[in-house]
Amino acid sequence: MELVGRVVRARSPFRFYGPDPQHMVDTLEREWCETFGHKHALGVSSGTAALSIAMSALDIGPGDEVMVPGYLWVSCVSAVVRSGAIPRLVDIDETFCIDPTDLERKIGPHTRAVLCVHMSGAPGRIEEIAAICKAHDLRLVEDCAQAAGASTGGTSVGRFGDIAIFSFQLNKNMTSGDGGLMVCEDDALFRRIVALHDLGYARTPAGRLDTSDEACQLWGVGARMSELAGAMALAQMRKLPAITGAMRSSKWRIREALGDVQKLRFRVVPDPSGDTGPFLLMILPDAELADRFVAAVRAEGISGPEGSLACLTMREWGLHWYSNIPSLVHKRSNARDGFPWTHPSNAFAADYSYAFGALPTCDDLHHRGAILAIASTLTEKDERDIVTAIRKVADALLR
Ligand SMILES: Cc1ncc(COP(=O)(O)O)c(C=O)c1O
Repeated sequence: MELVGRVVRARSPFRFYGPDPQHMVDTLEREWCETFGHKHALGVSSGTAALSIAMSALDIGPGDEVMVPGYLWVSCVSAVVRSGAIPRLVDIDETFCIDPTDLERKIGPHTRAVLCVHMSGAPGRIEEIAAICKAHDLRLVEDCAQAAGASTGGTSVGRFGDIAIFSFQLNKNMTSGDGGLMVCEDDALFRRIVALHDLGYARTPAGRLDTSDEACQLWGVGARMSELAGAMALAQMRKLPAITGAMRSSKWRIREALGDVQKLRFRVVPDPSGDTGPFLLMILPDAELADRFVAAVRAEGISGPEGSLACLTMREWGLHWYSNIPSLVHKRSNARDGFPWTHPSNAFAADYSYAFGALPTCDDLHHRGAILAIASTLTEKDERDIVTAIRKVADALLR
């Protein structure tokens, strides 16, 4: 409230113009770099915009294929399609992130980049994926929208790839009422990112447009972060370790308390110390039991406040699954000519299918998976209630 109030009182909600700028977005970027060890950070208006900017910054377009996991968010695919490239589905493993073996098997002559999505709060096998990208000279974009504050082997997410993006939307580890952030190590690439998120041009230190640099005469998307969002994100970022610490502790206490429950398995997390903990992912023996398990857990009162998403089957998790995204399954276009699916340079992908059945492990986990949201405010009693409810339901259904 204090930081947002300062922006309002100064009557300067815009990043680049205003009578008395408070430099909230600048401060957010600087503190983000200091906290997580990045060279460059840029506040943007959303994670969706950030993904599109990343594709353009890496010069991805028709003739290129970008590897995406089947458990993701619709924005990951839309960024690739809007760039004119083709998304290539890669299976996941029990980390619920990219399966490095399937990734390596599918790399072909058109593959330019890998979009690795750190789903549901925790990285998967990111070190192996980064090594594969390096060996095959592919660009790596990390989507850390759901994993702000996460790490692997002590290295923060976003430091394994060429570009990484974060989202501060609802249901994220921190929020600014829409907003996002991009990080990158390379100076020239970062200049392109800055130009693309704005009007296609660089800016002078005083915030005026600089059209003189030929490398930055591009087409921008107008995705600047406002000072109001910047102030909120800054306040939230300072609380992020407390938020993720609370979720991680609660989640792992619950998970350990359920460790001996027969036939209930959990997602594999390669480095639990780098998990941020917002979701407990469970794997049931089959789809029917997943339905009955979730219904019974909800009936035990583990449902969260009205309108929240406390406990769901993975099939109910909407546009997080490739086969639930109609515009992908049906290869929809924003243009009358069917671009990019019909572009001659993309003819190599004519027989790619995005319908259910394309990714065996992903489809299996989609069918028999369940997801429980873990709030950062759970009390010990809340944790005990969750464990008691799940044990009771498992006793009845999973013997
Ligand atoms: C994995 C992932 N990527 C990208 C996004 C897009 O972020 P935003 O909602 O800020 O556009 C989201 C969330 O909404 C997400 O979960």
